[in-house]
Amino acid sequence: MKIFIKTYGCQMNERDSEAIGALLKSSGHTLVDTENDADVLLFNTCSVRDAAERKAKGKIGYMKKLKLRKPDLIIGVMGCMAQRLGDQLLAELPHLDFVLGTGQLHRAPEAIAEISAQRKRFAAIDVAPEEIDMLGAHGNTSWSAQIAITRGCNRFCSYCIVPYVRGREASRSLESILTEARALAAAGVKEILLLGQNVAAYGLNGDIRPPAAGHSPFAELLEALNEIPGLERIRYTSPYVSYFNDRLIEALAKCRKVCHNIHLPLQSGSDRILQAMNRQYTARSYLDKVAQLRSAISDLTFSTDVIVGFPGEEESDFALTRDLMNEVGFEQAFIFKYSPRPGAKSALLADTVSEEEKLRRNNILLDDLQHRISTKLATLTGSVQEVLCEGVSARNESRWTGRTGTNFVVHFEPDATVVPGAVRQVKITRSGGVSLFGELIQE
Ligand code: SAH
Ligand code: SF4
Ligand code: F3S
Repeated sequence: MKIFIKTYGCQMNERDSEAIGALLKSSGHTLVDTENDADVLLFNTCSVRDAAERKAKGKIGYMKKLKLRKPDLIIGVMGCMAQRLGDQLLAELPHLDFVLGTGQLHRAPEAIAEISAQRKRFAAIDVAPEEIDMLGAHGNTSWSAQIAITRGCNRFCSYCIVPYVRGREASRSLESILTEARALAAAGVKEILLLGQNVAAYGLNGDIRPPAAGHSPFAELLEALNEIPGLERIRYTSPYVSYFNDRLIEALAKCRKVCHNIHLPLQSGSDRILQAMNRQYTARSYLDKVAQLRSAISDLTFSTDVIVGFPGEEESDFALTRDLMNEVGFEQAFIFKYSPRPGAKSALLADTVSEEEKLRRNNILLDDLQHRISTKLATLTGSVQEVLCEGVSARNESRWTGRTGTNFVVHFEPDATVVPGAVRQVKITRSGGVSLFGELIQE
């Protein structure tokens, strides 16, 4: 059958969709790019904020029209919102055929077969821990690929729905990750992105205490991946700040292929709010860790996630967040307006900050960020950067785009030898508001 998959939410969801797509292809189905061409529509959904759920529900609701025209159309909803709402989704959306929770994704081929044999709607949201290694399949490989190394989360930050919809944290075996990475490298992949809700907790068996000094299975994983011939770059997202011990920092500094960019979610710069969020660090300890990392790796860049308008966030708390962001000098940041999630602890607290005020705080942080990025980019003019070439620039067909290990986007005029995945030296000639421009250095 012809299957259309639409993905909402994070990179973990994108990765899951890719694996499900590959699984479906190996069961004899084909993947199509538009819903109009499809016999089956699959929606892989997100629950992290109310807006994420509304967006998916809106789209799925709209598909009712298509189903009226094509009564045989099969519609399935998977992933985090499916897990959270289960049967409730079947009740809300009468044209929906099945719901597969996050532990049931590997059953997509079976679900489609069942529905086409007998139209009996169902929701399956049981937890299935064995699924962890069943989603290792990849689609058409290019120069980059994502590898899920852990699933679930045990941290229970008070605002967050992820531990409830993704279940308990579990790590894949080192061997299965290495096998997957070696196969990808052999197929021409140059950059891998390791995924997990807290990648630095890899191999700690779900223990939420930061690892003992000298112990970091994640460091061991990075060292092993660093040895794989053909791979040029290793990225990872996201680590939780308190897991960066000496052992891990030493590995990051030593492994040539591990990129000098860390996405290090901050959430707030106010200790009072961090505590209410159940984030187990303080503004001071976060800053200390950043300083320690920078002293080990001098050109390290940082990006982050911040929530504005958490219950009880006063102007003074917000000011602390703003100051801390400027102090770290994040090169990238994702700012989110707090959204209460039914089921998560903070949903019991009054949502005290108005939508308007959340937006105002959001915009202030975005303005700061924009200013910081352009200032930082300007300092790179004249430098030579190692760039992994990605492909033709989306905005200007005569240029190519690539990325530095520190995660800056660089535009340059290609030469005849440039291919996606090639690593080249680029002399930076000027900077823009969000990216750099440069010339290839002929070697
Ligand atoms: N596991 C990742 C984050 C996954 S969710 C980590 O801890 O690093 C991605 C981001 O969404 C979070 O970092 C947080 O900033 C934001 N987020 C999560 N729940 C939210 C909520 N209820 N309202 C607003 N933003 C939220
Ligand atoms: Fe959510 Fe916190 Fe887990 Fe990240 S670490 S997924 S924010 S509970
Ligand atoms: Fe990701 Fe959204 Fe689920 S952020 S883990 S898809 S709730």
